[in-house]
Amino acid sequence: MSKLILILPAQILLLAIFASAEDGGYFASTMNPKRLQKEKLTHLRVYWHDIRSGQNPSSIMIQPPVKKYSSTYFGSITMIDNALTSDVPINSTVVGRAQGFYAGASQHETSFLMAMNFAFKTGKYNGSTITILGRNTVLSEVREMPVVGGSGIFRFARGYVEARTKSFDLKLGDANVEYNCFVLHY
Ligand SMILES: *[C@@H]1O[C@H](CO)[C@@H](O)[C@H](O)[C@H]1NC(C)=O
Ligand SMILES: *[C@@H]1O[C@H](CO)[C@@H](O)[C@H](O)[C@H]1NC(C)=O
Repeated sequence: MSKLILILPAQILLLAIFASAEDGGYFASTMNPKRLQKEKLTHLRVYWHDIRSGQNPSSIMIQPPVKKYSSTYFGSITMIDNALTSDVPINSTVVGRAQGFYAGASQHETSFLMAMNFAFKTGKYNGSTITILGRNTVLSEVREMPVVGGSGIFRFARGYVEARTKSFDLKLGDANVEYNCFVLHY
């Protein structure tokens, strides 16, 4: 009985593939979106630690800013592999890492293009990612950026994040930013 239930979806898939053959190939087929489960809304709150100081920085500027506009970091590129923790202190539980880069994208204000994946490492989220791509005016109290996609639990993800700086060490350049993520997924 359980075998039959398992086989049935495979046959449906096969039928869909054959049906598409007459359209010129086997490479694509139309699937019924009803196969997806009910859409869920997940809220994640993590703390993003941009550590530029010390022996083991997680944030490294690989391209310095264009000289003329250096006050806004225009033209700079910084690669990150930042810890994401469940609470404000850096020694609280690491739930994942923020991997990607940010680039100075404004000549007249401090505004970055953020391109990063939040790669989660805990519990049912282990191995799943969300992808954030957006504009970060770091001196604003709240910055909103889009969640443009995801993987694993977060397949088909869309949504947004709100970023709020909790602390910034002017001398060391280290920052702690709270990210509230609102993610629709299946
Ligand atoms: C985190 O570090 C602070 C001091 O910096 C210490 O008081 C606290 O016990 C540490 N917490 C954990 C969970 O290690
Ligand atoms: C997360 O998944 C990796 C790879 O499958 C595994 O090695 C690791 O132990 C898992 N971590 C947790 C906390 O479940």
